[in-house]
Amino acid sequence: MARKLYIETVGCQMNVLDSELVVASLRKEGYELAATPGEADTILFNTCSVRQHAEDKIYSALGRLKHAKTHNPDKVIGVLGCMAQKDQQLIFRRAPYVDLVVGPGQLHQVPQLIAEARQGAGPRLEVSLNRRDGSQEAIRRSHESFDPLRDPQMRPSPYQAYLRIMIGCDKFCTYCIVPSVRGPEQSRPPAEIVAEARQLASEGCKEVILLGQTVNSYRYRDEQGETRLADLLRQLHEIDGLERLKFVTNYPKDMTTRLLETVRDLPKCSPYLHVPLQSGSDAVLRRMKRGYTVGEYREMLARIREIIPSAAVTSDFIVGFCGETDEEFEATCESVRESRFKNSFIFKYSERPGTKGASLYPDDVPETVKRERNNRLLAIQNAISEEDNLRFLGQTVKVLVEGPSKTSQKQGQTGELVQLTGRTHCDRIVVFPGNRRLVGQLLPVMVYDTSAFTLHAEVVTQEVRPTVFQLDGLSSNV
Ligand code: SAH
Ligand code: SF4
Ligand code: F3S
Repeated sequence: MARKLYIETVGCQMNVLDSELVVASLRKEGYELAATPGEADTILFNTCSVRQHAEDKIYSALGRLKHAKTHNPDKVIGVLGCMAQKDQQLIFRRAPYVDLVVGPGQLHQVPQLIAEARQGAGPRLEVSLNRRDGSQEAIRRSHESFDPLRDPQMRPSPYQAYLRIMIGCDKFCTYCIVPSVRGPEQSRPPAEIVAEARQLASEGCKEVILLGQTVNSYRYRDEQGETRLADLLRQLHEIDGLERLKFVTNYPKDMTTRLLETVRDLPKCSPYLHVPLQSGSDAVLRRMKRGYTVGEYREMLARIREIIPSAAVTSDFIVGFCGETDEEFEATCESVRESRFKNSFIFKYSERPGTKGASLYPDDVPETVKRERNNRLLAIQNAISEEDNLRFLGQTVKVLVEGPSKTSQKQGQTGELVQLTGRTHCDRIVVFPGNRRLVGQLLPVMVYDTSAFTLHAEVVTQEVRPTVFQLDGLSSNV
């Protein structure tokens, strides 16, 4: 009988990709996916340490498994990813029934480690060197990029795929744990990335989302010279079958004019740029060690809008960072009003032990104030998102159809028409009724209603296809 695997994933797109690759490698060993931990004989958690909340969630899930393990000692329980790298032995101390703790740089070992655990090898810890525990080269080597050949069946949709172009981060923003859990910044060779993209395209993939913590810092040097993100995009653009190229997350200081002109000139590049500002106060940005001022960010944003007028720009913010005063928070509100992001992800500061922020500054903004600031900033952003989306009323936009919407999956619609969701080139979510057969197609739809997060639309039929409107600042790229 096939082995049953249950995997739970938290964290960023890197983790979603890592889980996909781990599942693919276990499928090759004959594993099948189980819908609940109860049905599974192997339970994996792919974890995140970016905020305390993400860690708490996994420790309580582990707590719930204590019983299952006592009743069924053959179950193998593994903790993978960033929290495995950060907490290491602490995980065994808090949950002694865990069999494996595997960092993001050792994921290729997972099938082997599970097999050994099943044979009674005892608990295993496989992690990378900490950033102070070895030579630069040894530390770098201990973080291996896990990018085996892809299995199309392992992706949520065969038409879209994440593709890692670099690992790690060297920016060391003072609040952030990522550089210590994901290790030094290392770019993958362009030839490998292009080969992977070719394979994805040959399997029917239409949209590729390039991943890196600071994706626009991509830099690979060899005898042929230096390859930057702009060069890589040009190479990927040649691949037949690929229709859309997106890349996340951008670091403001590395947003070069050449990259922006490349995005403008290559029709497959989505006019969508996630470039987190984090705070609208220079003093806070300095404490965060972000490496730019609000003025420099404003200049960059103006450059984006000048070169790519249709660009949808999105941001992240941290509210309640150490010492954030009312005035400093007001400055962030003002930046959000002024910048008109398509949307922003807003987080309450969560102190991360081991970061510079934790050792230099007290986490002194009360939780109630953080919550209140979070809500206020979200309300400002949502009003802007709602207002901006109104421009799409009556417009025809091209969507890549992703699948049935969450609500229609829940209702289990079985008729001809279901609610489908898709995304525009600029990453706006569109919901419309249609046949499941449309999934994976690039399709024009007509927007008849909008909200802050969603465009509601109808499929444009061949017979009554209206002209694609052109509004100021809106290209047919949307
Ligand atoms: N590499 C990306 C994203 C890193 S994590 C970047 O540089 O933008 C994603 C987001 O989580 C960050 O942009 C930041 O807004 C938030 N974040 C990171 N550390 C945090 C912390 N300690 N507390 C709260 N939010 C945090
Ligand atoms: Fe963290 Fe800053 Fe690196 Fe992003 S750039 S991963 S926020 S240290
Ligand atoms: Fe979390 Fe690791 Fe991503 S800490 S945000 S899963 S890189």
